[in-house]
Amino acid sequence: MKISALQAGFKLDHIALETTKKKRLANFYKKIMGMDYFVNKDGDMVCIGPLRKLIIKDGINNKLSFAGFSCRSENDLKLFKSYVTSNKVKILDFINPYFKEKTFSISDPDGNIISFGVGLNESQKFNGILNGPLQHLTFSSSNVERFQKFYSEKLGFKITDIVIHDNGTLATSFVTSNHEHHTLACFKANKVGIDHHSYEVGQWNFIRDWCDHFSKYDIKLSWGPGRHGPGNNLFVFIRDVDNNWIELSAELETVHDRGIKKWPQAEKTLNLWGKGILRS
Ligand SMILES: [Fe+2]
Repeated sequence: MKISALQAGFKLDHIALETTKKKRLANFYKKIMGMDYFVNKDGDMVCIGPLRKLIIKDGINNKLSFAGFSCRSENDLKLFKSYVTSNKVKILDFINPYFKEKTFSISDPDGNIISFGVGLNESQKFNGILNGPLQHLTFSSSNVERFQKFYSEKLGFKITDIVIHDNGTLATSFVTSNHEHHTLACFKANKVGIDHHSYEVGQWNFIRDWCDHFSKYDIKLSWGPGRHGPGNNLFVFIRDVDNNWIELSAELETVHDRGIKKWPQAEKTLNLWGKGILRS
């Protein structure tokens, strides 16, 4: 028996970012994003807040080292691994140490490393003042069609919304592995790698509280407040000290059984309220 990513109900558990200045970046996530951190035996700085975890590693600034998606049980993980291997996706030698045993990892067509596993649940022990579970990750790619085909056909993510250029090619693809509108997305752009990562704060008022918190530390919003077309979520964006883009989102659409929504590549698709930032 085998099950797809959607049937397994994967959620984004953690992301690992590379940097040349680990401590500076970790201190940003501690102070601004309400996470504690410790240094593990590999020298990685592990930042943990309530339902949010980010690993900071030595390397190239703004590069995603890997991302981890978790499911409910080892049995579901085993059934999903059967799905992946039956679609002839190569399992990498890399073992993600931030999951329980039996985790496995794959590389997508752009070389992004994605791990699947059962979470360690340690982020539930932390009591942060501000709610903001890690919720989605987005990529930039020169080939969104290839991204979409890989994640939907090889891994079994569900396509929820697509944004289309005038010439018919894909500008953005939103895919999900659970009931949330998207757990992953990909924007067509000149660069390849991470576009942004997002924390789902719940309701609009919590975005207000986060923005008041940012203001205390003189962190300016770089985009928003606004409302995205696809996903219908309210958003603000800030940049961390490495210039990584962080989204705070609220009221993201919950997807029940529905078809794919199509949008034009236009400013209003990216922000129903005002200024849109088009990646290509
Ligand atoms: Fe986003």
